[in-house]
Amino acid sequence: MAEDFDLVVIGGGPGGYGAALYAAGAGMSVAVVEKDKVGGTCLHRGCIPAKHYLETASVFRAVAGAKEFGVQADQPQLDLGISRARKQKVVDQLWKGLQGLMKKRKITTYTGTGSLGAGHLVTVDDATELHGKHVVLATGSVPRTIPGFEPDGTTILTSDHVLEIDKLPASAAVIGGGAIGCEFASMLSDLGCDVTLLEALPKLLPGCDADVVDVVVRSFKKRGMTVRAGVTVEGHEESNGQVTVKLGDGESVTVDVVVVSVGRKPLTDGLGLEGTNVEVDGKGFITVDSHHRTGEEGVYAVGDVVATPQLAHVGFAEAIVAVRDMLGEDLEPVDYGKVPWCIYCHPEVAFAGMTEQAARDAGHDVTVSKHSFNSNSRAMIIGETEGMVKVIAAKGGPILGVHMVGPWVTEQIGAGWLSVNWEATPDDMGQLIHAHPTLSETFGETVLSLTGRGLHG
Ligand code: NAI
Repeated sequence: MAEDFDLVVIGGGPGGYGAALYAAGAGMSVAVVEKDKVGGTCLHRGCIPAKHYLETASVFRAVAGAKEFGVQADQPQLDLGISRARKQKVVDQLWKGLQGLMKKRKITTYTGTGSLGAGHLVTVDDATELHGKHVVLATGSVPRTIPGFEPDGTTILTSDHVLEIDKLPASAAVIGGGAIGCEFASMLSDLGCDVTLLEALPKLLPGCDADVVDVVVRSFKKRGMTVRAGVTVEGHEESNGQVTVKLGDGESVTVDVVVVSVGRKPLTDGLGLEGTNVEVDGKGFITVDSHHRTGEEGVYAVGDVVATPQLAHVGFAEAIVAVRDMLGEDLEPVDYGKVPWCIYCHPEVAFAGMTEQAARDAGHDVTVSKHSFNSNSRAMIIGETEGMVKVIAAKGGPILGVHMVGPWVTEQIGAGWLSVNWEATPDDMGQLIHAHPTLSETFGETVLSLTGRGLHG
């Protein structure tokens, strides 16, 4: 006899646990089926551990530059074992907190693989049966691979493997210059690894504004990284513990390890779906409408398993939309063109809204302003003047896009993200006061310039 719940969630990552917490908060009885650990990719194999290592790289850079402040410190040495242990401590603490929160909300967690059959019946490991008045599918994604580079965890690595290495490789080729590729390349390079970054498209970081990408590439190269864009990889050969990556232009790169970061694919293995009207598209994503309803009434899908930006905060937002739909409440579908993006390579990248090119392509008559951090007092004080803020507005109209690259911009994008979502004009934003001295003044100056009356330039 199946146990009954208002909601059964399959997958305990941000999309799944977000749906569970929100639904439980609204008074629903909830079960979560998770085959590994609640927290999912974000907590255990993605955002959190990756940002921990990027912070390690930041500390390393700070110590190396300490002398400039008159602070005498020896050349930093990396003990990756200690950093890895700290990473695990942070992850475990968050994991414990999440489990406690779910328990407090009386969410029942089942460990095992959940599969969905007809009539909203969810089976856990072919044994326990659960019935949900509603079901959320949130099974996430796994790293995509490319032919000729099958990951073995030793020389050919995915991001999952890099997060568990205990020794820094002397050299690495990172294939794919998207968010993961740039974050890992930046981190490995700053810690002392000789990195070659290989991107198939003409530019790194597809989706980012071209001016921002130029700043990132300049910084990567200045710090000793080799960046090759517009290059294909044709396969690899291994000898004497090294890997030679053959490139489409006839050249090759010989390194200790290859990191494959060419995107993530949706994970629906073992999810069943026989006897349901849930549809999966040609790329393996579950098909949903703007309320995250699948083709089967009462069954929803959220997070990386649907074809929307693969970001934890998008998963949370989609989860809330799905639960509000179950509750019959008024809701705004997620506006994917306005979500904040944060990429934690050095220099950091953060943006919301349209790039200049996208705004022009969409037919907007745009006005653009850019301000560099090199005239920002706080940036000078912290010794990080690389980068800029770029704001794109419709002439006489709202701000369409805010793009930042530089120090702590992942913490500064709030103002940009709000202006894009509130469709604020430069005049609206220009009258708001930014504290001095802060990095955020650069955004203030950029919008003020768009009013035609900049203060400092
Ligand atoms: P991605 O799709 O962002 O980037 C993959 C890159 O690999 C693209 O630039 C693509 O052109 C390139 N590529 C594909 N095949 C290639 C080949 N054969 N040779 C060379 N280059 C090739 O995927 P990524 O970086 O793996 O990230 C996966 C997902 O996770 C993305 O949706 C990303 O936005 C998200 N993510 C977001 C982060 C953040 O916001 N901080 C951090 C990490 C991941």
